Amino acid sequence: MSTYTASDPRKVTTRRLAEMKAKGEKIAMLTAYDYSMATLIDQAGMDVILVGDSASNVMAGNTTTLPMTLDQMIYHAQSVTRGVKRALVVCDMPFGTYQGNPLEALASAVRIMKESNAEAVKIEGGEEILDSVERILSAGIPVMGHLGLTPQSINKFGTYNVRAREEEEAAKLIADAKRLEQAGCFAIVLEKIPATLAARVSSELTIPVIGIGAGGGCDGQVLVMHDMLGINQGFSPRFLRRYADLATVINDAVGQYITDVKSSDFPNEKEQY
Ligand code: KIV
Repeated sequence: MSTYTASDPRKVTTRRLAEMKAKGEKIAMLTAYDYSMATLIDQAGMDVILVGDSASNVMAGNTTTLPMTLDQMIYHAQSVTRGVKRALVVCDMPFGTYQGNPLEALASAVRIMKESNAEAVKIEGGEEILDSVERILSAGIPVMGHLGLTPQSINKFGTYNVRAREEEEAAKLIADAKRLEQAGCFAIVLEKIPATLAARVSSELTIPVIGIGAGGGCDGQVLVMHDMLGINQGFSPRFLRRYADLATVINDAVGQYITDVKSSDFPNEKEQY
């Protein structure tokens, strides 16, 4: 049983997230990529479930998010939405499906919405992709922005280090966040930036700001499910809090099963027909 009970059992919408920010109620967001985990996470009372392109890392074993395709994102999002009743489901737009051409961006977002039942899309970038954001919004598709460390640009950055420590990059990030808000984004993710900068953006914007490695001054927090559940043991950034050690639980359980099969302890008489 979950240790948390949502105070408001109604379906979470983009409007409800705005109300939460206005009331000072923090927003909890977590990634999911499949039906079973999405069902559990939703039942636990999560506000927003992100079908992240981090699926590329934690589901497919790639070192970056770049290989993810639109078809693969739609497949994951379909699996997630089948299990979710209350949380708002947001689907990442994968690398190469929205940059450069607003019409292509709209077509990609329309496919996600039509084929997966997700309720919003998330896009990485600021001014450079504003045309695409506006075009998608014009079709009535809610857009969540994503600034700071944007993993789809890893080949430009060269590292996964903290972003916007320098004044110039911080000023661009603030300007980008305001542009995204003005364009009509319903929320923004800020990834791996100094906590003071994230707190400033959160206080200057009226839309919710969800942080990951961006400190406690944001309106909400997001983590990658495999990281916070301790499935993905090789990833230990400072911002990550592990809430479980599922790698050990799984290893112990699987090891016990193998032992029982090898020793003919499993199945016993009650476990057969
Ligand atoms: O893909 C993802 O999981 C994300 C989160 C890290 C915000 O974008």
